[in-house]
Amino acid sequence: MAMRGGSSALAGEGALLGRAELPGTATSASVARAFVREILRVAGCPDADDAILMVSELVGNAVQHSDSGWRRDGLLTVLVADCGKTIQVDVIDQGSDGRPRPRRDPSENAENGRGLWLVGELASSWGWRRDRRGNVVWFQVPAK
Ligand SMILES: Nc1ncnc2c1ncn2[C@@H]1O[C@H](COP(=O)(O)OP(=O)(O)O)[C@@H](O)[C@H]1O
Ligand SMILES: [Mg+2]
Repeated sequence: MAMRGGSSALAGEGALLGRAELPGTATSASVARAFVREILRVAGCPDADDAILMVSELVGNAVQHSDSGWRRDGLLTVLVADCGKTIQVDVIDQGSDGRPRPRRDPSENAENGRGLWLVGELASSWGWRRDRRGNVVWFQVPAK
């Protein structure tokens, strides 16, 4: 896992607090939780529990729904940035034909389909975009 501190800009939006490059395997969800937990502890972020849950869902999605998990040696990247009033977490995967799409009624299926719905409920803001590597799914929580 590569970690970096400092203040490089994240997509022009904030100061980078940490960056982790993880294998596209199921165990990376728990590594990402620990990584985000530690960064947000240091940052004094009050919504760390929500952020930890959400990063776990997004990393799980990168593993299940993109080349990060489908390719041998696939990777995904987690970025955490301080954007002033908010903390932003980005999960960058290696792409797929599909797109992140929250289900409208996750109660139809108790096992699956709740990840992005949950992010929509818990995040102060969230979204996704394609970049040259794949999909970037991001969310924000209040910083202080
Ligand atoms: N990173 C991603 N890349 C491509 N498709 C995605 C990604 N994340 C989510 N999706 C799509 O959005 C759907 C909803 O995601 P989610 O709410 O987490 O439910 P689940 O992962 O249980 O299917 C997924 O079934 C998948 O089709
Ligand atoms: Mg999911």
